[in-house]
Amino acid sequence: MKVLNIVGARPNFMKMAPIIEAMNKYPKQIEHLLVHTGQHYDEKMSKAFFDDLGMPVPDINLEVGSGSHAEQTAKVMIEFEKVCLREKPDLVIVVGDVNSTMACTITAKKLGIKVAHVEAGLRSRDMSMPEEINRLCTDVLCDYLFTTDHFANENLAAEGVPAEKVFFVGNVMIDTLLKHREMAAGLTLSRNLGLVPKEYATLTMHRPGNVDDKVVLTGILEALSEISEEIPIVFPIHPRTKKMAEQFGLGHFFNSGENVKGIWITEPLGYLEFLHLNMYAKMVLTDSGGLQEETTVLGVPCITMRPNTERPITCEVGSNVIVGGNKQKILAQAKQILSGELQQGRVPEKWDGHAAERIVDVLIKEFV
Ligand code: UD1
Repeated sequence: MKVLNIVGARPNFMKMAPIIEAMNKYPKQIEHLLVHTGQHYDEKMSKAFFDDLGMPVPDINLEVGSGSHAEQTAKVMIEFEKVCLREKPDLVIVVGDVNSTMACTITAKKLGIKVAHVEAGLRSRDMSMPEEINRLCTDVLCDYLFTTDHFANENLAAEGVPAEKVFFVGNVMIDTLLKHREMAAGLTLSRNLGLVPKEYATLTMHRPGNVDDKVVLTGILEALSEISEEIPIVFPIHPRTKKMAEQFGLGHFFNSGENVKGIWITEPLGYLEFLHLNMYAKMVLTDSGGLQEETTVLGVPCITMRPNTERPITCEVGSNVIVGGNKQKILAQAKQILSGELQQGRVPEKWDGHAAERIVDVLIKEFV
């Protein structure tokens, strides 16, 4: 079988890496090409992850770059259609919920090519999130839906997706985490920065809902600033957040000096460096989706600064708490963690490092 594996933006890379590795075990049965749409292109948003994860250089790069949603989606579709017509794959595999995921799914399906979605069925029920629209469009079109938890299976069943298209395989991002955990633990980054394990917090924030609105962003930064008086916060800042904070004149909230104190900003970090910082953090503050899952497995308390989550399993079994962008709620939850009141978590079913192998087993059975 011939497969095109699609990646576009930062969170896709760690999801695709174990799938490629699992496919490499079947060189006679599976021919696969890696297609990078170029949605993320900065060295620190893209190449750094390929290096850390030992991923092959993409066979094809569509180089679409940034743009409005319509522009970016359209550019991916135009370029990917040419690739599909030239390569004639039997299957296209997409991961996650970024614009590239949806764009490649629509393009392939319209050419009659089968599509598999890894991380299917997640729903926030929040249509103001571009990712929710991407998830819905992708899942309704896909032929194979690989899910990470029981909530995803229930969502797909409720939407009328036939059970024979759905495969509960576990979480490929956790495959990558478990593989690299020891390597990341051994880095000296936190020591080099003068950080004491469990005496600092990490932060990620880039959702348009949080960073594109001055009032919302200011409220969140006020809360974070108060927390950072008790515990330093390391913030590898996303390009979108950097751009918006500069535009709104909110740079005074950040410290970018030599010493880690206050809300301390760095360039985006590589996969291993950030995993290292998170595993030794007292808590993680985030609006990311993936980090809610990673902290669940690492056993690190997570404060999710969003009004909802498409990953409720992390609240059901883990130590994730949803607080929205509300200043008081963020502060209250952080205080609880700082005072040592921790919710104990456990690891969800099949988040065991073997999800990608299960996916490839299904594909071999279906196609070969
Ligand atoms: C995208 C995904 C989001 C994911 C996030 C991870 C969509 C709709 N959103 O959001 O789900 O959580 O990636 O990072 O697909 N930029 C750079 N360099 C880059 C990439 C982006 O400077 O390499 C800047 C550009 O100004 C760009 C902005 O960041 O306009 C936003 O990038 P974009 O890919 O549109 O969305 P993200 O916010 O990164």
